[in-house]
Amino acid sequence: MNIESLLEQMTLQEKIGQLVQILPSVYDPQTSDTVTGPVAQLMEESGLTEENRFELGSVIGINQAEQALRIQQNYLKHNRLGIPLLFMADIVHGHRTIYPVPLALASMWDISEMELMARQSAIEAAASGLHVTFSPMVDLVRDARWGRVMESTGEDVWLNGEYAKAFVRGYQTDDLTRSDSLAACVKHFAAYGAAEGGRDYNTVDMSDRELREFYLPAYLKAIEAGARLIMTSFNVVDGVPATASTYLLRQILRNEWQFDGVTISDWSSIKELIQHGVAGSLAEAGEKGIKAGVDIDMMSGAYLNHLEQQIEEHVVSIDLVDEAVRRILILKQDLGLFENPYRGIDPELEKRIHLSKEHRDTARRLAEKSCVLLKNDHILPLAESQRIALIGPFATSTDVLGPWAGSGKQEEAITVRDALDEANIKYVFAEGSTVDAEIDWDQAMEVAKQAEVILLALGEASWMSGEAGSRTDIRLPKTQREGLARLATLGKPIVTVLFNGRPLDLREVVEHSDAVLEAWYPGTEAGRAIHRLLFGHAIPSGKLTISFPYHVGQLPMRYDALPTGRPMTIEGADPRYTSKYLDAPNEALFPFGYGLSYTHFSYSQLTLCEQSKESIWEASVLVTNEGTLDAEEIVQWYVQDPVADVSRPLRQLKGYERVFVKAGSNREVTFRIDASMLMYQHPDGSVKADAGEFILYAGSDSTCTLHETFWLKQTIEKEQFDEHINDRSTSTTR
Ligand code: BGC
Repeated sequence: MNIESLLEQMTLQEKIGQLVQILPSVYDPQTSDTVTGPVAQLMEESGLTEENRFELGSVIGINQAEQALRIQQNYLKHNRLGIPLLFMADIVHGHRTIYPVPLALASMWDISEMELMARQSAIEAAASGLHVTFSPMVDLVRDARWGRVMESTGEDVWLNGEYAKAFVRGYQTDDLTRSDSLAACVKHFAAYGAAEGGRDYNTVDMSDRELREFYLPAYLKAIEAGARLIMTSFNVVDGVPATASTYLLRQILRNEWQFDGVTISDWSSIKELIQHGVAGSLAEAGEKGIKAGVDIDMMSGAYLNHLEQQIEEHVVSIDLVDEAVRRILILKQDLGLFENPYRGIDPELEKRIHLSKEHRDTARRLAEKSCVLLKNDHILPLAESQRIALIGPFATSTDVLGPWAGSGKQEEAITVRDALDEANIKYVFAEGSTVDAEIDWDQAMEVAKQAEVILLALGEASWMSGEAGSRTDIRLPKTQREGLARLATLGKPIVTVLFNGRPLDLREVVEHSDAVLEAWYPGTEAGRAIHRLLFGHAIPSGKLTISFPYHVGQLPMRYDALPTGRPMTIEGADPRYTSKYLDAPNEALFPFGYGLSYTHFSYSQLTLCEQSKESIWEASVLVTNEGTLDAEEIVQWYVQDPVADVSRPLRQLKGYERVFVKAGSNREVTFRIDASMLMYQHPDGSVKADAGEFILYAGSDSTCTLHETFWLKQTIEKEQFDEHINDRSTSTTR
């Protein structure tokens, strides 16, 4: 297909149509009886007419092969130039087989498993006819009040970027024409995760240095990995809504990053420019959107209603429309849609592959790796011979898929009770209640009295996190906390398993429980994974990628905090006038990187040596498995730059390795540091590593203390470093 000659044949109305995204109900004849309502309404609000209906470019929310087939066939019967529709949806942590939520997946610290999750999700979704997923969501988050934290991979800039790349590789592969690949739409550009007060859609304001150093890198990494689309965010940045920001969308995205893919608004975020107070009408909102560089208007009607007139009146240049249409057509072409508009759609494959054994096995394994053991006072793993009381709403709740569960069905999820039954574990059971209702704790107490150990499954209902799921109280619901406290009066060991989408204030849970397993929302295979972990068939290895505060009042919180001028540790200071709370510690209850195992690992013999004069250091550390079980440990490497041009984080993650260490033995783990890891954004905009002292830490979480010092002899600029790397790679390929 020659895109330029296609563009030439298109009328202005056809071009504008490509820039519009609409719901499937507009086309789906199977739902014709219920469609008239929404379609009529859409026609009024969004400029949709019988004539332009078959000129629109993309549809949001397809989830099934037969539906995709019907819509595309019907559409192509009417579309004058035979330009196929693009089908997009939120495939965030699985399509039909649901894997753990992203924040849980991040706790695996396993890039290849993340990539596999994205691959299997794409295989399932492509068979249902999808072409684009609105994923990965790479927003950096430091505030557990924000409900969408469950959709992120956490609070670390570097790790988020590594995961961003893995998602993109998994969805897209290196060949977008493959019928089982999906184009990735990275979101939400930019800094959506920094909403003030953790309230969704709220203001974001930060320095440009902060934005560039912490918030932007993960979007860039997704783009460098080949992500074909990017979605704007709902929030303002420095007073300008991201959806109307020429700074973000033109200066940074197009000029600096040279992104040539498709930009898309978030749901109605063009129209919301009115509510933000930067547009007086839908027409003006659309004008701002297209001028800023938003190619596709998702669900606001601004382009469809007003762009034609704006072009005719020369308020908006046709060149802007052409540019956007060109990018969309190229995407369609690169997906192979012009050759085969039914690319991927396969009802038979869909039946075979959705919830296939292979995908379910992966979902179970990933759920095992995602769970984080927060506390264990010699009670886990449980023995099958122990008399167990199974109590709590999540013992039987199927609300374990979490928000953004694609086409996953709760009734297909395995509960904790299902898994215990499957494994023939004997237990006494207290009839639960739904997650958000009052619980009959009298009955639970009676049941608990009959047991040796209490297995308590607690958590947040999934509606309590996710989009628009912000909370100011991040404790478990009151009835659950009260029940736990009552059960604790029995003096029997309590193992609490938690299902939730955010870091919680777990003080009471920790106080009353002998063991705490953070299971997040583990997905379709939830129960099986938890059963295997609780009974020692699998060993917990997950580690947090976000801090768990003591108290909501500490938020926002980050492990990579800057020092203050008055740290609590400063010698000779009057303790009153140091940086602290009067009623809570500064630190997290469970820090970034934290997670226990059924064994214990110790770290020793940290060594560091510089390789020739290359400003490359080789570090090594000895990791010893002190226990009696073979297990995996996530070895973490952090660097601190104690004296710099600006105040630098107390430490920053620079690398990690998941290693298997046999019981009673040890393993040397090595790590290579180069100057790029020491660079930061200077006040003048340059990126460089300053000559001077650095400190390397190695250990099992972000509070590790084992360290060594090293020196960078001369300042190294990023350009200089990149050139050097390029020279070296060309000379080695030669
Ligand atoms: C969300 C996006 C999502 C879009 C489409 C919006 O409300 O913010 O993350 O991709 O809806 O479902």
